[in-house]
Amino acid sequence: MRMILGASAIAVVCLVGVTWGAAGSRISRHSSMASVNQPDQAKRRPALWLVANGPFALGSDQATSSGPPLLAEQAFKNIQALKGISVDDFMGTMGIMSGSLGFDCSECHDSAGTDKVDWAADTPRKVTARRMVNMVTAINRDHFTGRQVVTCWTCHRGRDRPVVTPALDVVYGTPILERDDLVPASPPGLPSPDQIINKYLQALGGAQRLAGITSFAGKGTSVGFGGFGGGGAVQIYSKAPDQRTAIIEFKDAPGRDASIRSYDGKTGWIKTPLTVLGEYQLNGSELDGARLDAQLSFPAQLKQALTNLRTLDPATIDDREVDVVQGNGPRRLFATLYFDRQTGLLLRMVRYGNSPIGRLPTQIDYSDYRDVGGIKMPFRFTFAWLDGRDAFQLNDVQLNVPIDAAKFGRPTSLESRP
Ligand code: HEC
Ligand code: HEC
Repeated sequence: MRMILGASAIAVVCLVGVTWGAAGSRISRHSSMASVNQPDQAKRRPALWLVANGPFALGSDQATSSGPPLLAEQAFKNIQALKGISVDDFMGTMGIMSGSLGFDCSECHDSAGTDKVDWAADTPRKVTARRMVNMVTAINRDHFTGRQVVTCWTCHRGRDRPVVTPALDVVYGTPILERDDLVPASPPGLPSPDQIINKYLQALGGAQRLAGITSFAGKGTSVGFGGFGGGGAVQIYSKAPDQRTAIIEFKDAPGRDASIRSYDGKTGWIKTPLTVLGEYQLNGSELDGARLDAQLSFPAQLKQALTNLRTLDPATIDDREVDVVQGNGPRRLFATLYFDRQTGLLLRMVRYGNSPIGRLPTQIDYSDYRDVGGIKMPFRFTFAWLDGRDAFQLNDVQLNVPIDAAKFGRPTSLESRP
């Protein structure tokens, strides 16, 4: 049996051609304080290059025309357990499997010694994983009234085979208490979400000034986590109330496609280099997530973007005390926001989408707030999802500039070709 990862590293995936290990957010609780540490020793694995033009049934027209959502079983060849979900949610399930077992894609999918992975081919592990999908569905249905309380992560915790016996070192060691991701109602005695959000809006420059911002354009660089993702030229465009595009271009790496996320207020796209699909239109949780990211680019709308806002127990992030607010979005999406108690500023947002085998977390960390035209904006942010991680460092932001509507459209048309 192979123990793939140590206790602090979880996900190792290859969807974006980058393999990386997310340092698990370990949370310990002292009285009412929980601490959310982000250890720096993220485990890195050699990158696995995946060739986009694999043996896929997915014609580019099909992948890219708008219209009814493309379901996994229409896009792919051999879908038996995960039918009826959109392609973006399907890719999310692959991220959950990889992250939960500490695998990268190649540990279930085989390239038979070539540089092209045959994703549709069944391997023994793939067959087991499919059986596990059905098992998890049955457990939740038969024992938990259909609530999704058992997921791959419940048992696997970053290992191929779950631990069977409690280790006494762990039993008597420092407890690692993890927070619930979803908290339906505020525990008593905490400040109201309104107070925390108002303090945030004040810290940014005040609701009135914020309301005066209708668009912005930013430029900078991407900072990698080992392997890919670094050294790219970044462009960010955003237009109120809910349009946003982030582009990373790798001009020094000839042949490497850009990494682009775009959302035009209705339709969203992801394009990542060296992936299975290349570019795909969003229809599942990622679409709701893209909308939320775009809305939160204009923080004055925060209280409208999320409903049923509630305050959670305070926490710490990198030794800073944070106030925590959670709210719901459409279709069971929810998001948790962590505000620096001292400065009032937003340090982290984690949004959770849905899939048949568990929640799909996306975490954005914000820092390096600078003054632009009387309001504060984060010049650095890290975007982490189950299928990869990018860090953006802006060096120039222009407010209220006209932005061509095409900037929020389909990624392929946005890449600046030499
Ligand atoms: C733990 C094993 C496991 C890991 C790790 C895994 N997959 Fe899968 N993958 C599966 C299973 C099982 C299916 C079939 C799902 C079904 O039958 O509904 C599948 C199907 C697919 C398909 C559809 C192929 C076709 O044409 O039918 C693609 C594409 C895919 N995986 C991509 C990925 C990518 C990309 C990663 C890494 C991010 C990944 N997988 C990681 C188990 C895995
Ligand atoms: C109730 C606990 C439980 C849950 C939930 C669970 N598994 Fe497992 N899984 C196991 C156990 C136990 C084994 C080892 C079985 C053995 O040794 O024969 C295993 C083994 C596996 C293996 C084979 C690993 C190897 O290389 O030997 C794969 C792949 C796998 N699980 C995938 C998944 C996926 C994907 C999910 C979520 C859809 C999942 N499991 C959910 C308990 C669980």
